[in-house]
Amino acid sequence: MCGIVGYVGTKNSAEILVDGLRKLEYRGYDSAGIAVFENDEIKVCKAKGRLDDLEEKMSVEGVPQGVCGIGHTRWATHGEPSDINSHPHSSKTLSIVHNGIIENYIELKAKLIKKGYVFESQTDTEVVAKLLDYYYDGKPFETIKKVIGAVKGSYALGIIFKDFPNQLFAVRKDSPLIVGVGENENFIASDIPAILKYTNKYYLIDENEIVILTKDNVSILSLDQEAIEKELFTATWDIEAAEKCGYAHFMLKEIFEQPEAWNKTVSPRITDGFPNLDVDSLTDELLKGVEKIHIVACGTAMHAGMVGKNVIESMVRIPTDVCIASEFRYSNPILSKKDLVIIISQSGETADTLAALRLAKQNGVHTLAVVNVVGSSIAREADSVIYTWAGPEIAVASTKAYMVQLSVMYLFALKLALVKGTLSEDKVREYCGALLDIPQKMSDLLEKCEDIKYFSSRFQNAENLFFIGRGLDYALSLEASLKLKEISYIHSEAYAAGELKHGTISLITDNIPVIAIATQENLYEKTISNIKEVATRGAKVLLIVNEAFEVDESIAKYIFKIPTVDAVLMPVLTIIPLQLFAYYTSVLKGCDVDKPRNLAKSVTVE
Ligand code: F6R
Repeated sequence: MCGIVGYVGTKNSAEILVDGLRKLEYRGYDSAGIAVFENDEIKVCKAKGRLDDLEEKMSVEGVPQGVCGIGHTRWATHGEPSDINSHPHSSKTLSIVHNGIIENYIELKAKLIKKGYVFESQTDTEVVAKLLDYYYDGKPFETIKKVIGAVKGSYALGIIFKDFPNQLFAVRKDSPLIVGVGENENFIASDIPAILKYTNKYYLIDENEIVILTKDNVSILSLDQEAIEKELFTATWDIEAAEKCGYAHFMLKEIFEQPEAWNKTVSPRITDGFPNLDVDSLTDELLKGVEKIHIVACGTAMHAGMVGKNVIESMVRIPTDVCIASEFRYSNPILSKKDLVIIISQSGETADTLAALRLAKQNGVHTLAVVNVVGSSIAREADSVIYTWAGPEIAVASTKAYMVQLSVMYLFALKLALVKGTLSEDKVREYCGALLDIPQKMSDLLEKCEDIKYFSSRFQNAENLFFIGRGLDYALSLEASLKLKEISYIHSEAYAAGELKHGTISLITDNIPVIAIATQENLYEKTISNIKEVATRGAKVLLIVNEAFEVDESIAKYIFKIPTVDAVLMPVLTIIPLQLFAYYTSVLKGCDVDKPRNLAKSVTVE
């Protein structure tokens, strides 16, 4: 999970490459580098650390001057972050950047060492650079074809050959790659934000298509060297979508974009008061026949699935499992033809989730993907796709993508309930109306979240923290806890409130912070009892509670009230202060909010 970019045109490529890499830093940020044709020679500059470190190095060593080059921002897998392990990797004849993993690199490396090649890095990528050199016979297309026949694994490769100044070559398998088309300039990139400043026209590259770019020509060739005609897409995101626009961090901006993201995802899918998923392959007949649902995803997307399970089971009364994709794929899951597998993914590229999708398809089960990135692998391979319209999510910690994943869970559950007749038409219409009212309620709540900053200041020094809740509040706690852990580095656990006393309560001592979530009327009294259990053992409690409930204010040290909506929709509002709690805690602790340590946004490795 790295970011690659390439440029060929008439402008100073180093500047454009670094600029593009900045937009891809969410994919990895432990080292970066570029390679540029300078007077028909390839000049490489690379450095461990952030892009600022690369820029500093270039200011000392000299910025490569030229109109064609490739760049890379890395999230280390093979070999620690270091100058040597940074990309681009080179051999006598070429330089490359790579996103993905070469699984058989050890075997290939051994063969190349026998042929006299000397390796300087510990990376799998350098093997590709040397293998390209080994096969190189003056014909880049044939050389690339031989190499992709020999390597196993995933790759998006950007390549420049010394003998072909001002030409860019690229190929992909299981890692994303687009070609950006400009005026007198063309690009390759892992993702659209990298090129958006220069063009919004792009091609999606399919598996093992070989791309050859000059400043005024784009060739996309099949392995038989046939030219492939492709649809030229226009990105609908504007440049602001990929910029901070005055916000201190992308995460904060994305939290505040949630009402709009919800609106864009939901409103076109409600017609005359009823849900309209507008997916041809998801027929009423197919939905009527579904007897069991498996929701498969990772991390935050999986937590959206946990809420989805509750909603589907309560509205439709059909059994719904939520599976972690990395477990599902190796669990020999019991799947039947009457099941539906729902795959949730922001990036649409998560390796485990993609593998789970493929496994479900092999078992002949209909797959429905809920995906944010248009044209991503998961979107392309699933039988049916519902796109979430969150726009680009740049912060590593997911917020608005989670929100729109929830919105699709509600829409889907309502559609299924309608088709199966488990909710009356009036009830479905009522829920759809409530879904349309949500953005305004979110905006109102966002304006009232000043207190959250104060709570963060009270909890920022905690080493451990617990979130507790029941039912939907428990599903939400899992996400609140993950957000806090990943960006503030405070250890936290989410517990089903009733389960604490079966062991974990022994960890509750004086001043241990506990954030209790109580938004569900039928569970309120039970959660209050659990709060009393921890409070009497000294816990410092922050209660996040439905404002409709009468609360004995002495129950918790701090209380934050959530505006009331239908019980099943409460998670949508309740997650907002919890996202902000994680955000402000991270800021107060001086953490790198948008780029937390060891993490990258798109997890394209197992
Ligand atoms: C956490 C986070 C991750 C992702 C997970 C799946 O904030 O973003 O847990 O949710 O890596 O990613 P996608 O949704 O791209 O499949």
